This record gives sequence, C-alpha cells and structure tokens, in this order.
Amino acid sequence: MSNPTEAELIHIFKGIPFTTRSSPELLKSLDGFDAREDDVLLVSYPKSGTHWLAGVIKKLYDTQVTITSPIELGDISNLEELNKMSSKRIIPTHLDYNMLPANFKNKKCKMIYISRNPKDIAVSMYHYYRENPNLPTIDTWTAFLDVFLKGNVVCGSWFDHFLSWEEHENDKNILFLFYEDMQKDLPKVVKEITLFLSLNVSDNVIQDICKKSSFSEMKSDTEKENNDPSHTVCSLTSNRNLIFRKGAVGDWKNHFTPKQNRRFEEIFNEKMKLSKM
Ligand code: A3P
Repeated sequence: MSNPTEAELIHIFKGIPFTTRSSPELLKSLDGFDAREDDVLLVSYPKSGTHWLAGVIKKLYDTQVTITSPIELGDISNLEELNKMSSKRIIPTHLDYNMLPANFKNKKCKMIYISRNPKDIAVSMYHYYRENPNLPTIDTWTAFLDVFLKGNVVCGSWFDHFLSWEEHENDKNILFLFYEDMQKDLPKVVKEITLFLSLNVSDNVIQDICKKSSFSEMKSDTEKENNDPSHTVCSLTSNRNLIFRKGAVGDWKNHFTPKQNRRFEEIFNEKMKLSKM
C-alpha cells in the first residue's frame, strides 16, 4: 500500500497545520469548551519535553487526578468525554495561546508552558516526522529544516507559538519552564512546580520523583509497558515508543551545518527581536 499523501494527513485550521487526528469539527467547537477552575493545562509546542513534564506532574499528586488526552485530539466526542470526567483534570495541549478555549483564560486556570531550544526541537521533530506514520514523509534533514523555519509543520511556526505564550509570561496563572533547566537541575524545577500548583511535597519525595523521571527510567517503563504504550500526551501519536529518542541537550550540533546554523540564527534574531528569550 502506498503512503498516505500530505493532503490525507494534514488540514489547515485558522492558518495552522493540524493532523487529521484533530477533526475540524472539534477545533471549531473548542471555543465553547467549558473549563473548570481547578483544571491545569500542560502546554507545549511538540517535542519540547511534554511527556517528561507530564510524567513528573502525575507523580506529584497523591489525590485522584487524570492526565487527559490532548484537548485538540479526536472529534467532538473527546470534548464530551472530558466533560464527563469527575476527577481533577490535567489537560495537555499543543494549541497556541490564541486558539486556547476562552474559558480557560477567563477562569484563570493554571497553565504550565514548557519550552526548549528550538534548534533541538527542530531536530527532535525531524526524527518524529520520520518515525510517525501520522505525519507526512520528509526526505532529508535539509528539506525538513526548511519547512520548519517556514512554519509549514504541524502546529505551525515555533516562533509564533512561543511568542503567543510569551506575551502572557507575567500572568500569575501561567508558569514558564524550560527543558534545559529540567536537565540542569530537575529537583529545583519540580520544587517550582509544587509551589505553583500549591502542592505540599517533601524534598525527599521530590528527589525520588526525579529519579523515577529520568530519561532511561521513563523509556524503559514504556518499553516494559508499565506505562500504557498506547497513551500519549501528544495529539500527533498514541505510540509512546516514538517519544523517548535521545533525551539530550544540544543534539542540534550533530545535525546543523554551519550555514544552516547561520540561517537559523538570522531568522531567530529577526522573529524574536521583541522576545526576552
Ligand atoms: P529528543 O527527540 O531530542 O530525544 P515531547 O514529549 O514534547 O514529545 O518531547 C519529546 C522529547 O523529550 C524527546 O527529545 C524525548 O527524548 C525527550 N524526553 C522525554 N522524556 C525525557 C526525560 N525523562 N528526560 C529527558 N528528555 C526526555
């Protein structure tokens, strides 16, 4: 059987490419979604460390919480499922700030935005495109970097996504995290998360959670199926085995040529001139 064409895998909604795993009907209905005041949103551009963060957050709660499927995944029945859920909801999403249902903003729900060096995101996404049957075929790294920089990838331009959220950096209900900080000092970041979520977790428990959240532990948990391998917090796949690839900072250096790096920096400096990053 031939591979599905790009048109069979991708559709554009409000100018942003989505996979057909997010139905246009669901995307149209998002704005009417009823948020609850105690919902927590886990927000990211794909490949920023969403599963790592979700793995940590899940271990922080001793009460009944559910990490739901991404809000933009599936069809309208997904929203109905979310409405029926009786436990506290931790809701993952790759939506940019403008597309986020207004109710989450009006109710000032807590939101955690995780970001990462966009060069490493580009590399991680390139490998994801190659492995993930829900995404169009990509021939070479050079071709992928080009579409990434033009924003013609799922979830649109990294720059637009980041900037849409960074504008709300000082909102009290939004916590900004960086993948690189988690790599550098995970216990410190986890402590920050507990304070933001008003959770009382001892330093010993935090240390233990950090050990259990290492790349190797999470990867082997998934391989041993201690974690349901058909459940992810990414709307682009249900297969957890596609998530744990290398887990390193700076893998971009193994992919970018000096010329590609210069082009990336030029575009970065132009697009991010008003950013504090
Ligand atoms: P790489 O492809 O660079 O390895 P997301 O969860 O948003 O899809 O992000 C996936 C990226 O996070 C992958 O990056 C993956 O390896 C990395 N990752 C997942 N769990 C991790 C962990 N426990 N520690 C470090 N990196 C992790």
